[in-house]
Amino acid sequence: MVNYKDLGLVNTREMFKRAVAGGYAIPAFNFNTMEQMQAIVMAAVETKSPVIMQVSKGARNYANGTILRYMAEGAVAYAKELGCEHPEIVLHLDHGDSFELCKECIDNGFSSVMIDGSSLPYEENIALAKKVVDYAHQFDVTVEAELGVLAGVEDEVAAAESHYTKPEEVIDFSTRTGCDSLAISIGTSHGAHKFTPEQCTLVNGVLVPPPLAFDILHEIEKKLPGFPIVLHGSSSVPMEEVNTINQYGGHLEAAIGIPEEQLREASKSAVCKINIDSDSRLAMTAAIRKHLAEHPGDFDPRQYLKPARENMKKMYIHKIVNVLGSDGKLAQC
Ligand code: G3H
Ligand code: 13P
Ligand code: ZN
Repeated sequence: MVNYKDLGLVNTREMFKRAVAGGYAIPAFNFNTMEQMQAIVMAAVETKSPVIMQVSKGARNYANGTILRYMAEGAVAYAKELGCEHPEIVLHLDHGDSFELCKECIDNGFSSVMIDGSSLPYEENIALAKKVVDYAHQFDVTVEAELGVLAGVEDEVAAAESHYTKPEEVIDFSTRTGCDSLAISIGTSHGAHKFTPEQCTLVNGVLVPPPLAFDILHEIEKKLPGFPIVLHGSSSVPMEEVNTINQYGGHLEAAIGIPEEQLREASKSAVCKINIDSDSRLAMTAAIRKHLAEHPGDFDPRQYLKPARENMKKMYIHKIVNVLGSDGKLAQC
């Protein structure tokens, strides 16, 4: 049994309170590799931002849960080595799909877990989330639950269409589960293909997707004043990365994300955690493809992973400073 506090990690409670009050959002970046972890820490330290490093079930299968936990412990030490005396780093389980998985993470140093029962019937979602909350709170681990279904693929849970969160359910759900934050569905979705071109409007040669359901977000805020809200599926799928990938041998068609202005607007509301994974994948792939195309003789992974790490770091800093507004928001620098 390892408690996250012994690893120098923090839970989400205090940072969410400050983010909701301050009108900004905390970045939640997924990681699977050392380069992603390094880029996240460098970006958070340079911008003096709290940060959530999140691990999906797929990431645990790929990299091994124990290794990722030690990487998070290493992230805290690395942040200090880079000159940040009081880093605020959360190690979060993304899309936990069972009580057992959440318990395993809590017992092994995670400071926050998500229990995603969003595909279950309402009462079953409540019962599962409450079971996780009751266990997690004994160790001061915070819990994110989800109400409403995002379009796209949530690990093994596929939803062809999203079902927006019903504002009339949020008080009952948050009260009965005791969850610390609530992921909602207002039109975001996972992956790099969030909308079909047919769903978009062509404005000055650019495909603009339909806006997020801000009316639903505002209704939820009214029902739960000050309660931390989470947005999944919030990559913006930058066109320059997609173009670079395609220019250097990739084939990504109709890749469309959430416009950053909408995420900026959401960050000013009770949305205090914004999940970004696909943009990191795109930044990494674009840099690797470009490097290998321009240097066909290179075969040392450091030669192409270094520009990949740089590109991800640039993207993370951009999100923190220009989209979420969490720069300079550490409680103590
Ligand atoms: O929401 C899903 C995250 O992007 C994680 O994706 O399950 O492929 O690691 P993954
Ligand atoms: P994106 O695929 O939009 O990056 O969303 C990531 C996510 O929600 C992780 O839980
Ligand atoms: Zn997600």
